[in-house]
Amino acid sequence: MKMVKVGIVGLGRLGRQHAENLAFRIPNCELSAVCSVIPEEVEQAQKEWGIKYAYTSYDEMLNNKELDAIFIASPSGFHCEQIEKALNAGFHVFSEKPLGLYMEEALRVQEVVNKHKDQVFMLGFMRRYDKSYAYAKKKIEEGKIGEPYLIRCYGLDPAKAINGFMQFAKNNYSGGLFLDMAIHDLDLARWFLNVEAKQVWAIGGAYGYPEIAELNDAETGTALVKFEQNKMGVFVAGRNCAHGYHIETEIIGTKGTLRVGTIPEKNMVTVFDESGAVKECSDGFLERFEQAYLSEVEEFISCVREKRQPNVTVEDGVLSTALGYACKESFETGELITVQS
Ligand code: NAI
Repeated sequence: MKMVKVGIVGLGRLGRQHAENLAFRIPNCELSAVCSVIPEEVEQAQKEWGIKYAYTSYDEMLNNKELDAIFIASPSGFHCEQIEKALNAGFHVFSEKPLGLYMEEALRVQEVVNKHKDQVFMLGFMRRYDKSYAYAKKKIEEGKIGEPYLIRCYGLDPAKAINGFMQFAKNNYSGGLFLDMAIHDLDLARWFLNVEAKQVWAIGGAYGYPEIAELNDAETGTALVKFEQNKMGVFVAGRNCAHGYHIETEIIGTKGTLRVGTIPEKNMVTVFDESGAVKECSDGFLERFEQAYLSEVEEFISCVREKRQPNVTVEDGVLSTALGYACKESFETGELITVQS
């Protein structure tokens, strides 16, 4: 295959970043079509980037047989349906996380993916493609910290992004804090510890932003997870981080510890002024994971060209959804929940 022709659905906060990567930063890839339900977004993208086809209907985009692959960056509630339709129409598919918001749809889509083994399917767990996280994984595989048995994760969105989040959450149901936000950490925990989750207890509340409670969601939440082999996970997720976007991971093993992002530095600059010596913090996901978003899309396009499947599988999507859903259920009921396996 000379050039992989891609159509993207969803041109919002993340969709635009993916679209720009596909259009301008990846050799052997052409962004041939854009789709969103908002006509102005589609027109602007088509004009600004010189895209051949533009759609406000996803089904119409799927009728375009010039395309090889569909890239899904629509709200989470549409992922499963759109993945299924694209695979059944013969396309390779990349979908943003989470795979699904409910176990039934995630399991159904797993069956569809497994029926189309010749088509590439990839899920957007981009942290696995972040250089620091990939390095930590390599260290674990080399035995540097012995057997990893505990993971501690902070996934905190900046307080100043709260208005953007409220808009995102009001436009479409996101699945709530654990399925929308903590899901990246839940996936990393499975990846680093190399075991599956068994039981979850999650608590949380809305402390700085009570309006989040009106969405029946937690602004800040904590989950304690028991994994197979008695391994442990502690997860803190939140939307009210005063100092910026704080993504921190600690993996403790029998012979050592790894930490990623302990201070969520924006870059290597220290500002010395009347406040002291200041290391500014990362602003948000687009800044912190810029390289990872590009690397995951490069991997998807390489997989299509080389006729192979990526390391992030539909099973990773199902198992992380099961764990995220168990956290949500525990938060909502106050009960200890057994993770569906
Ligand atoms: P957004 O709300 O900013 O954008 C959604 C886009 O989808 C808009 O262009 C909207 O017009 C379009 N859309 C809505 N309904 C549609 C439909 N039925 N058919 C076609 N297009 C439709 O959302 P955002 O923040 O860009 O998130 C999109 C997805 O990306 C979500 O699933 C979210 O979980 C995921 N995400 C992943 C991140 C990561 O770090 N991997 C970070 C941020 C979001």
